[in-house]
This record gives sequence, C-alpha cells and structure tokens, in this order.
Amino acid sequence: MTRFKDKVAFVTGGSRGIGAAIVKRLAAEGAHVVFTYVSAGDKARAVVQEVEAAGGNVLAVQTDSGDAKAVAEAIEQTVADLGRLDILVNNAGVFVTAPAGDPANDLDALDRQIDINIRAVVTAVRTAARHMGEGGRIISIGSVNGSRAGFAGVAEYGGSKAAVAGYTRGWAWDLGKRGITVNTIQPGPVDTDMNPDNGDFAAMLKAGMPLGRYGRSEEVASAVAYLASTEAGFITGTTLNVDGGLNA
Ligand SMILES: NC(=O)c1ccc[n+]([C@@H]2O[C@H](COP(=O)([O-])OP(=O)(O)OC[C@H]3O[C@@H](n4cnc5c(N)ncnc54)[C@H](OP(=O)(O)O)[C@@H]3O)[C@@H](O)[C@H]2O)c1
Repeated sequence: MTRFKDKVAFVTGGSRGIGAAIVKRLAAEGAHVVFTYVSAGDKARAVVQEVEAAGGNVLAVQTDSGDAKAVAEAIEQTVADLGRLDILVNNAGVFVTAPAGDPANDLDALDRQIDINIRAVVTAVRTAARHMGEGGRIISIGSVNGSRAGFAGVAEYGGSKAAVAGYTRGWAWDLGKRGITVNTIQPGPVDTDMNPDNGDFAAMLKAGMPLGRYGRSEEVASAVAYLASTEAGFITGTTLNVDGGLNA
C-alpha cells in the first residue's frame, strides 16, 4: 500500500498506544513520518526500529506538548528538513480529571491538561496551516467524552476534547478554500496505558457499548489513514466516533 508515498506526516505522541499505531500505519503506507514523544525514549526507539525494519521512513523527536512553542518549532524543523508537510495528526493527550470540587483538580492540573490537549493542538494547526498545500490533512484525536461525559469525573478531560472538536469546525472553514481538510476522531475506550482493558472503568464502559469490548489502537489508526487519504477529500469539519457505539 503506497497511498502516502512522497507525503510527510507529523504525529504528536507516537511512542505508545494510539499514536504508535498511527505512526506505523502511515509509514506502512509510504509516508515519511516524524513523531514526538515526551518521556518514553525507549518506546519511541522501538517504534522507529519496527518501522525501519519494515522499510519505512521515520524520525522520533523529543518534544513536550506542554510547551506549544516547542511543538511549533518541531513542525518548522520537519518542513525545513523534509521540504513539505502533508498530514498533521494531533494525538498526544493526557487524561487528568476528577469530580468538581476534588482537591486533585488544582490549577496546575488544569493548566497542564489545557496546555497539552488544547494549546499544543491549536499551535500545531496554526503552524501546519502555514506550510500545507492543496490536499493537506489535519486530524486531531479527541474523545468520545468530548460529546458525552456519561459518568462523573470526566468534565475537565471531556471539556478539553470538546474544544478540539469545536476548533476543528472553525478550521474547516479557515482552510477549506485551500483544499485542506480538518477533522476530529473521537475514540471510545481503547486498550492503552491511558485506559487499560482491565482498568477500573473497563467493565462499566464495556457494559455501555453495543460492541461490548475495548477498541484496539490499530482500529483508530485505520480511521486516521482513511481521513488522511484522497478518498476522504469531501470530509471536513466533522467528528468521527470510533467508539464501539458508546455514543449511540
Ligand atoms: N485510550 C483511550 O481509551 C482513549 C479514548 C479516547 C481518546 N483518547 C485519546 O487518544 C490519544 C492517545 O491516547 P493513548 O490512549 O494512546 O494514550 P497513552 O497510551 O497514554 O499514550 C500517550 C502518548 O502521547 C504522548 N504524550 C503524552 N504527553 C505528552 C506530551 N506532553 N508531549 C508529547 N507527547 C506526549 C506519550 O509519550 P511518552 O510515551 O513519551 O510518554 C505517548 O506517546 C490522546 O489524545 C487521548 O486523549 C484515548
């Protein structure tokens, strides 16, 4: 499969979980992928090795999404090194939340989540928009909690992800005339370090899903690949739930 031959993709948070699956999928389909990580250098190197062993082109850069300027610089560097940017995937995110009034919801936690889940995404899109041409693709990983909380304790995380979906609708208008599409994918429960299939919420979540199971990171990556492809050229400003029916 070479749908993304000669394309350059930038993916935030590609060392583990959903982001790693996105990196591998885009690279397997021919894209030259640059991805960020913040702390798991060993896991980032393992992703690089796996992609290279399969014949793909990939580069890992340590860039904290908590520092929006650093994200912008990493995108600028990618364009300077590789000459173009075709696909941006805003995947890095954190799940920091607790019920309203809980002391864990201090201002530092609020700032960190807003910085990573919103501020870095906005900055990445602003930067990418300066470099993308016709056919450009911007895909952000929101969350099903951006549309529906469903249970207590996810207000702050869900609010940050609702912001991503809201920005996405505006960016679709900003960039549509240039032939660039902008979409958000809203995963439901996906088995990763953030939300393990055997975690505290797992049984409750599965009981509320028509498909009754957690998703796999590869099932989100396949939706990213579709939205990044030319086949999805008439889709913009939308949120695509990849959630086993949780929002149904
Ligand atoms: N798993 C789910 O059920 C689920 C459901 C809905 C939405 N999502 C969303 O999907 C995305 C990926 O989630 P996941 O489950 O794959 O998470 P994960 O297993 O916790 O992996 C997070 C990835 O993001 C990176 N990352 C975290 N903070 C970062 C930062 N400050 N700067 C740069 N990279 C950072 C991590 O890098 P390091 O390895 O270096 O730490 C890692 O590669 C997130 O936006 C999340 O909100 C997940």
